[in-house]
Amino acid sequence: MSANLTYNLLRGLHILADIAWMAGLLYLPRIFAYHTNAQPGSDMDETFKVMERKLYSVIMTPAMGAAWLLGLSLIVFDGSQRLGWGFLHSPWMLTKLCGVFFLTGWHLFLGASLRKFAVGLNPRSERFWRMANELPFIAAIIMVLAVTTKFGS
Ligand code: HEM
Repeated sequence: MSANLTYNLLRGLHILADIAWMAGLLYLPRIFAYHTNAQPGSDMDETFKVMERKLYSVIMTPAMGAAWLLGLSLIVFDGSQRLGWGFLHSPWMLTKLCGVFFLTGWHLFLGASLRKFAVGLNPRSERFWRMANELPFIAAIIMVLAVTTKFGS
């Protein structure tokens, strides 16, 4: 397989993993927002718990793992074959990595909140989940524009 095909295959798979991860990061807080109004122990409460657990463990966490694995593979590919290791401290890649660490931290925060809901605790208000839900999308906009434009470099 040519180096170019390898790079483009890694990049394509990376973007697919990012899409699945982002979909979960944007959907789970929406479920939390509705869950804050469900009566503890009600059918609705139990249904939300199942939805949250499946979304987080079946889709979001594997997608995050794949995004990281493919992202790190792209770092090795770019460092050793395309851009040289210096690209790791270029402004666009540093911006991208800041976004990656924010999204990973946000993913783990959602996991901790999910476990609180599972034991009948209500960690945050409906308004918090609706407002905070925009943060990962803003991060994704900055990251995608940074990596595609490379800030003109
Ligand atoms: C999880 C850890 C991640 C790492 C280590 C990582 C690293 C990378 C690297 C090294 C590239 C190749 C850059 C190039 O060769 O031009 C890349 C491409 C890309 N990344 Fe990530 N990334 C990660 C997560 C994400 C996330 C969460 C998103 C979206 C929200 C994202 C969006 C993209 C896009 C759109 C490209 C393709 C850019 C292009 O082809 O011009 N990445 N990533």
